[in-house]
Amino acid sequence: MRFRKFVLGLVTATFLTSGCKEKNNAEVVKTENNTTTTDSAYYQEKYRPQYHFSPEANWMNDPNGLVFYKDTYHLFYQYYPDDTKWGPMHWGHATSKNLRDWEHKPVALAPDSLGYIFSGSAVVDQNNSSGFGSAENPPMVAMFTYHNAEMAEAGREDYQTQGIAYSLDDGDTWEKYEGNPVVPNVDQGIDFRDPKIFWHEASQKWILLLVAGDHAQIYNSTDLKKWDFLSDFGQKRGAHGGVWECPDLFPLKVDGGEEKWVLLISINPGAPNGGSGTQYFVGEFDGKTFTSQQKEDKWIDWGRDNYAGVTFNNMPQDDRVFLGWMSNWNYGEQTPTEKWRSAMTLPRKLELKKDDGYFLTNYPVDAITQNLSYENFAAEKPVQLENKDLNQAHIEFELPENPSDFRIALSNASKDSVYVGYSKTQNQFYIDRIASGETDFSEKFADRIMTAPAQFIKKGPTSISLFTDQSSIEFFVDGGATAMTAQVFPKSPYTILNIQTEDVVKNLKLAPVPSIWKNQSTD
Ligand code: FRU
Repeated sequence: MRFRKFVLGLVTATFLTSGCKEKNNAEVVKTENNTTTTDSAYYQEKYRPQYHFSPEANWMNDPNGLVFYKDTYHLFYQYYPDDTKWGPMHWGHATSKNLRDWEHKPVALAPDSLGYIFSGSAVVDQNNSSGFGSAENPPMVAMFTYHNAEMAEAGREDYQTQGIAYSLDDGDTWEKYEGNPVVPNVDQGIDFRDPKIFWHEASQKWILLLVAGDHAQIYNSTDLKKWDFLSDFGQKRGAHGGVWECPDLFPLKVDGGEEKWVLLISINPGAPNGGSGTQYFVGEFDGKTFTSQQKEDKWIDWGRDNYAGVTFNNMPQDDRVFLGWMSNWNYGEQTPTEKWRSAMTLPRKLELKKDDGYFLTNYPVDAITQNLSYENFAAEKPVQLENKDLNQAHIEFELPENPSDFRIALSNASKDSVYVGYSKTQNQFYIDRIASGETDFSEKFADRIMTAPAQFIKKGPTSISLFTDQSSIEFFVDGGATAMTAQVFPKSPYTILNIQTEDVVKNLKLAPVPSIWKNQSTD
């Protein structure tokens, strides 16, 4: 399935959108049908997310190379600059000072004779162990997968290898290493990719995580160029409905105390609600081997639109911030946007908690909610609010501990409704987007109600939080003990909020979330 995607990429048409480099208001663009339309103002197109990251134009998938350096967050991403569908992959680039506002940068890495540039990660080589920089100017080093489309076409199996590149100007421009590939593909099979590198303080080594079909591999290095294989993990562990992709491994302290290691693995297909999803394992890492006692499958987000998520390297104060691609390979190339395709999830802070077992919470970083102006509503049941801008909003409220069933409906004048709720008998949350707006672009988009087993942090009231942004809903219970992310394409903005429940809805507040996008130039 994925293999088909990559091969198709070889023959991707390049006749689509033009005018993507122009940033004038009312620019003229050619659409997919080669008709001419008048584009609206910068980042004002239909369905354009207003406070999520999306590329100015064309196709984006996984976040790559997430790293914090010199007060700047770097987001690289899988990018095809010539089409709104997947094609020969580049690394797009954007930076942020606060994880809320983003500045577009020129493309960082483009395909070369070794192949397309697939997913990977980036580090700051503070001691210049790679020798690419100097003590005064340490290099940033990125590691990525080379996907060689010609070799794949020719029927070879060793077409995915790992390469590195470095930047001596704080991520603005990148030079590929002439000794690439640094990890060749020797009998690793056709799915050998998505390097995550990080510095491991205890062993004083660079660690590399890779995925090879149905398992992860761990390597280490002293110079980021020569890598030694150490161990593997996962052949018979966790979910295996599809190939393993986009690994990440990092330590987290349970409520600030005991330290555990968390391994993230994306799989496609095989997610609990169909298609793409990201599972995790909590365990131990001793510098060589990852082990986990975890029995059940755990998922970072139960919605259908959070995939290939990984975390930032080099963060201050051990913070762990995660970003995912807010789409699903089941229909990601068909979503009804014209000029660009897909967005990232909100950046989410990860925390590790313990009850019967260990579990992760994930919740948008403070920068997203910091300066919002909330309107507060008195306790009532049921709730019915009209004429509100619910298309770009943060909605929060509380229910008692052990809540009864509830159903939140966001609706509009076009009679579209998306439902987010909880069924006590099934003890599960759900998002029902079957009548949420445009859904007929793919049979797989609205073919089911997505569900998540309920997990409550049983200390006082249950907190409910919803972020909507033109074409997405991110739903969090108890600060992200459960998270569900779903795209929606309402025919007109949602303006009516209805909350049905036997309980009293307390502390209901609603804030419009302002747009982060203004005209900017990458020149
Ligand atoms: C995940 C993924 C990665 C790969 C990239 C290609 O969505 O399939 O495994 O590196 O996308 O764009």
